[in-house]
Amino acid sequence: MKNKKTICIIGAMECEIEKLKQKLQGFKTAHHGKMIIYTGKLHSHKVILTQSGVGKVNAAITLQYIIDKYNPDIVINTGIAGGISSELSVADIVIGTELVQHDFDVSAIGYAKGYMCTGINPDKPTVFCSDESLIAKYEEVISGMIPEIKIHKGIIASGDIFVSDNNRKKEIKNIFNAAAVEMEGAAIAQTACKNEIPFIVLRAISDLADDNAAIEHEFVETRAAEISALSVEKLLEKLD
Ligand code: ADE
Repeated sequence: MKNKKTICIIGAMECEIEKLKQKLQGFKTAHHGKMIIYTGKLHSHKVILTQSGVGKVNAAITLQYIIDKYNPDIVINTGIAGGISSELSVADIVIGTELVQHDFDVSAIGYAKGYMCTGINPDKPTVFCSDESLIAKYEEVISGMIPEIKIHKGIIASGDIFVSDNNRKKEIKNIFNAAAVEMEGAAIAQTACKNEIPFIVLRAISDLADDNAAIEHEFVETRAAEISALSVEKLLEKLD
């Protein structure tokens, strides 16, 4: 059957991509420096799957390489996140409608925290928006996938920090109105935007980014990572 789309799926850690890797048909592995890229078909789409490593720099350089080499039609970021919104419980899914970098800080020279010196709205954090049609399609396919899991839409804040601190959590909530926090989404969003490629960031909650986060995360991360990956597979099944 003819390819439908070429889709880049990027996760930071092995547990975030493993379930998808197992499902790729005609699985092949390619190497570029220290990057490992898996290709194959899933629901008739050509999939480029990779584990970027943790953090914004890893995510951006890996995605830029994939864009240059494979020219994907869309980019999907899957993985786990710390819940910031009080409405979230572990295993719930957050659709990142807007992505912001909570550790980008030029406030000392008079700008808003998170403003990325773009020349646009210097009094607000800079946001990158997930593609509206991908969000709509995802919402359509995901409702009822796992009845006990809530689907939440909101801002995801990324930074090179594992947030495990009530005070920092409160700060990120107050400044960025974030629903969840993680370490790659906004870099993936920025890279996709710069290349004018539609993207969506999808995360399942592995902890609540509070004083207990490090411990909770250890017990929940694999389950949350698999929920997010499974939901990505459902999205691919329904994409034209
Ligand atoms: N990914 C999952 N939980 C996280 C947290 N609490 N902080 C940053 N990234 C995360």
